[in-house]
Amino acid sequence: DRRITILGIESSCDDTSAAIIRDGEIMSNVVANQKVHEEYGGVVPELASRAHQQNIIPVVELAIKKAGISRNEISAVAFTRGPGLLGSLLVGTSFAKGFSLASGIPLIDVNHLQGHVLALFIKEKEIEYNPPKFPFLCLLVSGGNSQIIIVRNHLEMEIIGQTIDDAAGEAFDKCAKVMGLPYPGGPYVDKLAKEGDPLKFEFSRPRIPGLDYSFSGLKTNFLYFLRDNIKKNENFIEENKTDLCASLQHTIIEILLGKLKRAAKETGIKEITIAGGVSANSGLRNALKENAEKYCWNLIIPKFEYTMDNAAMIAITGYYKYLNKEFVGQNTVPFARTQL
Ligand code: KG4
Repeated sequence: DRRITILGIESSCDDTSAAIIRDGEIMSNVVANQKVHEEYGGVVPELASRAHQQNIIPVVELAIKKAGISRNEISAVAFTRGPGLLGSLLVGTSFAKGFSLASGIPLIDVNHLQGHVLALFIKEKEIEYNPPKFPFLCLLVSGGNSQIIIVRNHLEMEIIGQTIDDAAGEAFDKCAKVMGLPYPGGPYVDKLAKEGDPLKFEFSRPRIPGLDYSFSGLKTNFLYFLRDNIKKNENFIEENKTDLCASLQHTIIEILLGKLKRAAKETGIKEITIAGGVSANSGLRNALKENAEKYCWNLIIPKFEYTMDNAAMIAITGYYKYLNKEFVGQNTVPFARTQL
């Protein structure tokens, strides 16, 4: 059997996921979300690691079963090595090492950010395959990351701009939290924003040189703005919720697109892609489409399922690393912080 079958494992934050990719084509992708964090309004690292430990074996078994293959057809196991929560990463890493050792197959470490980008290359049965052409720019926006990445080929990419503090998703979630919305608040803000006026309120925008982002100033500004207005009118949030959401979302999108436009201009690249959980945001998608028309970008937006944390993106990265024979040993350890 010359087919290359990769088992991918993702456990960097609060989703336990396993996927099977064969010759670049998806066969299964199982994601177990962790509900335990909801009542805390954010991810609790210790609880996340414990939930990963409970989920990992059933999730992997289900991925193999759904793919309709047997364990001995797997050519290699790929796992998220980082960035992410160290305790969470350790669960996936240890599992992958054990699986590799027990099955006598190679072990492949995957950078989570690279995974988000390569999700654009997942083939699906009976769906037209339309990956971006190299070199392209990827705006990676999630709960933990906000980066502009220049992608030269499957395995060669460079971060040319990134947040110096909070991620865009964090800005959505934290501002949503102070408005009393459930966690994670991003999707709620998106929904409420549809009925609000994006120009009703004005919030601060960072003045950061180059292609880097910053979202912590906006978050503080939003918090103080609410606090000042609640002093005058205790129902301020309730009475203005849709406008607050629309104006907040508008500001985040303007910040994201400002630097993306600049990156496109400076690099001369018109092949533009987006990845990460925040790419689900409808306002961001619309704004990207408008800019694509205006600046003649070829815009590629991945399928929703693969924009959020998932193991299919880890397995596809594993596939390309397998072709390049990039394997690691049992002494490999996870890393928490951003690197590419
Ligand atoms: O990539 P992802 O699933 O995982 C993390 O890196 O954490 O991204 C999750 C993030 C959360 O911050 C969530 O609020 C945000 O993506 N998000 C959204 C939307 N859907 C998910 N933010 C704004 N609008 C949305 N529709």
